[in-house]
Amino acid sequence: MILPDFVQRDVALDRLNTFALPARAAWFADVAEPAQLAALTRAPGWRELPCFVLGGGSNLLLTGDFDGLVLHVCIPGRELIAEEADVWIVRAGAGENWHEFVRWTLEQGWPGLENLSLIPGTVGAAPIQNIGAYGLEMAERFQYLEALDLATAKTVIFDRAACQFGYRDSVFKRAAAGRYLISAVTFRLPKSWQPITRYADVTRELETLGVTHPTATDVSDAVIAIRRRKLPDPAQIGNAGSFFKNPVLDAEAFRRFITRYPDAPHYPQPDGTVKLAAGWLIEYCGWKGRNLGPAGVYEQQALVLVNRGGARGEDVLRLARAIQDSVQTTFAVALESEPVVL
Ligand code: EPU
Repeated sequence: MILPDFVQRDVALDRLNTFALPARAAWFADVAEPAQLAALTRAPGWRELPCFVLGGGSNLLLTGDFDGLVLHVCIPGRELIAEEADVWIVRAGAGENWHEFVRWTLEQGWPGLENLSLIPGTVGAAPIQNIGAYGLEMAERFQYLEALDLATAKTVIFDRAACQFGYRDSVFKRAAAGRYLISAVTFRLPKSWQPITRYADVTRELETLGVTHPTATDVSDAVIAIRRRKLPDPAQIGNAGSFFKNPVLDAEAFRRFITRYPDAPHYPQPDGTVKLAAGWLIEYCGWKGRNLGPAGVYEQQALVLVNRGGARGEDVLRLARAIQDSVQTTFAVALESEPVVL
């Protein structure tokens, strides 16, 4: 197969995933502009080559070498594309660092994304799992995204409905999985801004900071302080954030659960279902701070699995399965893992 010059052979992915798991890609390309994908699709044999689109690698579990082409999205750019009476419309290249983008919007005086501060990863990865934290999901600020069809290199626009956002979920994890490279995302930041401070952690942190009428930057600073305390910095200890989704029970299953565990934190959803705190379930089973080989459960937040040093993907998977078994046996609740497994 003859691939364009910008494609490299046999590249280590260890530094490109925040879990710091070892793996190599048979082929690898930094994609900084959509035209590169068009060049790739003209290469003979392109259709037979398995492709994987990599952003910041912060929601990824690498289980071994990848015998295909890793497309590492580096597309830059951030701009105000329109200002309307009630909103700022802001577009960012998929390769932009998410947190730097959030802070940049705040510096420009466009609030709205502050609750999502310090989430690792790129702008392009944000819609895939509809990142969310401290009372806000990305979907609430989303306008549309541009994605390149990997088969044709043509740009396809996905509006909010087309993305089918759910809790840590979108069409890009289901029907459209593996078919697109998200190249840019456009957000709607409302001018009638109100701080979202209903999460107890945020309220407490603002009190500690002595803030009574928070600005968006105050909320961002509070979220940063909470995350630094509770979540491990991937630069210091390998991890992919929450490893499991918080499980959602139907009303009947929740009634049975809460009768037995009345102290369990729970969050009623608008549709009548109830979300449980997976971290609480895992801690109850005694896993918090424990290790299984070189993989462990973070001391400050049981929802986060960590690489204690030298872990391979299979070590993390073994620990994840042991936790899922414990939670299933104890509570009859299934835990679903969150990261993409490759
Ligand atoms: N809890 C425990 N033990 C633990 C962890 C949590 O008992 O080890 C309890 C807490 O005391 C609290 C409840 O569980 O009552 C919820 O904990 P927390 O507020 O820390 O949030 P979470 O449900 O564990 C979710 C997101 C995080 C996000 C926070 C804040 C998921 C899978 N995770 O965690 O997202 O930052 O809420 O909004 O929804 C991520 O996705 O990578 C992530 C970090």
